[in-house]
Amino acid sequence: MRILLLSDIHANLEALEATLAAAPPFDFVANLGDVVGYGASPNEVIERSRDLGKIFVRGNHDKAATGLLDLEDFNPMAAAAALWTREQLTPQHHDWLHGLPQGPLVLEGFSNVQLVHGSPGDEDAYVVSIGDALVPLLATTTPLTFFGHTHLQGGFVLTGEISEAYRPAYRTVGQPESSDWPLRKDRRYLINPGSVGQPRDGDWRAAFALFDSEAWIATFYRVPYNLRVAQEKILAANLPQRLATRLATGR
Ligand SMILES: [Fe+2]
Repeated sequence: MRILLLSDIHANLEALEATLAAAPPFDFVANLGDVVGYGASPNEVIERSRDLGKIFVRGNHDKAATGLLDLEDFNPMAAAAALWTREQLTPQHHDWLHGLPQGPLVLEGFSNVQLVHGSPGDEDAYVVSIGDALVPLLATTTPLTFFGHTHLQGGFVLTGEISEAYRPAYRTVGQPESSDWPLRKDRRYLINPGSVGQPRDGDWRAAFALFDSEAWIATFYRVPYNLRVAQEKILAANLPQRLATRLATGR
């Protein structure tokens, strides 16, 4: 089976459309949360995401936009976007977002895979460093954990009692590209497909990944998208200007 891994789309319809146009053939989609927040197309992105399948875990922005998370935990820019999103959501989309399940989610038929937004032990925790990754890698017995939240594409592998970081290498800054990470069956991994709609690893291109459960390979992808349209929508919605400008630098 080939699982398309999408995370942190953040209401960026242009990035999602480019992702789907560039995605290789897949059997189903696993969505790791933060469908909304920051971007200007929450209803369109929810509609498109729901069309793609039923496997979702909720993200902190999905909670914030539906009153499940205190906005005091958010920086002013994120809080402004959450309030704006809350006003935009149709009642049906609000209810759907509000009902998204908390991770970890074990996929039916895939006992060796779990889905989380932040970390297996805490859905809102950021796994950025090898130190952050070590505790969940040692604590979980599931070989593969797919996660999001940090908007950083890559992963961590447990080798003995040492956690090592992995970042895909790319040759260009503006072309569509992919990068394979062959996995070992005797190792434990945390794998982040990166953020579709608001990358923060210095690469502005939409990020996603594909996991092939037969070949046991994670393939990372970057794809350019219509940045200007996404930015113009953010500015036209009177969302904080920085939410538009940051997309150009992937920060
Ligand atoms: Fe996010």
